[in-house]
Amino acid sequence: MTTAAMFSSAADNCSRRAFLITNLQVRPSRSGCTFLRTSSTRSSHARIFASVCSSSSGVIAAMVTDVSAKVIDGKSVAKQIREEIATEISRMKESTGIVPGLAVILVGERKDSATYVRNKKKACDSVGIKSYEAKLSEDSSEQEVLQYISSYNDDPSVNGILVQLPLPSHMNEQNILNAVCIEKDVDGFNPLNIGRLAMRDREPLFVPCTPKGCIELLHRYGVPIKGKRAVVIGRSNIVGMPAALLLQREDATVSIVHSRTKNPEEITREADIVISAVGQPNMVRGSWIKPGAVVIDVGINPVEDANSPRGYRLVGDVCYEEASKIASAITPVPGGVGPMTIAMLLSNTLAAAKRANNFE
Ligand SMILES: NC(=O)c1ccc[n+]([C@@H]2O[C@H](COP(=O)([O-])OP(=O)(O)OC[C@H]3O[C@@H](n4cnc5c(N)ncnc54)[C@H](OP(=O)(O)O)[C@@H]3O)[C@@H](O)[C@H]2O)c1
Repeated sequence: MTTAAMFSSAADNCSRRAFLITNLQVRPSRSGCTFLRTSSTRSSHARIFASVCSSSSGVIAAMVTDVSAKVIDGKSVAKQIREEIATEISRMKESTGIVPGLAVILVGERKDSATYVRNKKKACDSVGIKSYEAKLSEDSSEQEVLQYISSYNDDPSVNGILVQLPLPSHMNEQNILNAVCIEKDVDGFNPLNIGRLAMRDREPLFVPCTPKGCIELLHRYGVPIKGKRAVVIGRSNIVGMPAALLLQREDATVSIVHSRTKNPEEITREADIVISAVGQPNMVRGSWIKPGAVVIDVGINPVEDANSPRGYRLVGDVCYEEASKIASAITPVPGGVGPMTIAMLLSNTLAAAKRANNFE
């Protein structure tokens, strides 16, 4: 079954669920927790029970307890995309003798950054992209980083340049990111790329990888965006803000929720599509989700877990256990947006190489 077909069946479930929810009857219980029963006899879901949660805003939301959302499997979609990229790179190599190149600049000894860089290199190898790496010590100067960028800018075998963030605090991130030439800005962080993303009838050369991955998941699962209400939680330059711009470019009506937003729960509950990029574990509860909404959880948050060998596990911004009972489709953490980010970086690098070599 294709992913789009899988989603259609999720959408069917979703509309069935919507029918059931409209037929819910309130049955107060002595415990104070209210139970609902449907009056529908249309399907096997007819005797569905739902509990009712009072949300912080005092609004009541139905929590269907026996239906689960379709899992949006970012890991398998990313694998599929990587296979497509590998095929394209072989075709390019056969026809021109050229392979795309990606340069990564890592400054400092942060373990998480070193792991990300290692994973990016592995991903490049797996699809046939040649990787270049510059490792600089924590105390290097901004000038040294700029010199590396300048030499990669001039090197025709390098099609994409990525500066691993965060940089040490003595460096000016803006100066460094602005030094990457726009044709090699595979992270899409150059203000010219973001500006074009925001403007009508302008095309950015590259779109930032994580938000691009979110939209790609919606496309590959056949989720309609045009005319839908979308809420993006978070407005960072690298995820929230470009995600909102992308949804708007696809004709969604977009609201942005941030740390100063009043009634975030109420606003989020209006959304057919929710993208959350906050960095707060389990902040988005089931009661924030409109029944049948599609939820993309970008958050990657470590929480203590004595049962895990590492002493922690990763969770998203969205309380998966609750939201997966209300949404029609949802990304897991891990295995949702994360693998898509690297797949989109490879895709941007291939696009840069094709453009640089006039290869269609
Ligand atoms: N899957 C991936 O590949 C990937 C890639 C990048 C990031 N991430 C993850 O995504 C999450 C967000 O990353 P980021 O770089 O965008 O983070 P960030 O730069 O810290 O931005 C967080 C955003 O969330 C908003 N926010 C914070 N607390 C809030 C609250 N209580 N209610 C509503 N909004 C709130 C902030 O609002 P203000 O603007 O008002 O401060 C800000 O806009 C993190 O968990 C990160 O690890 C994952």
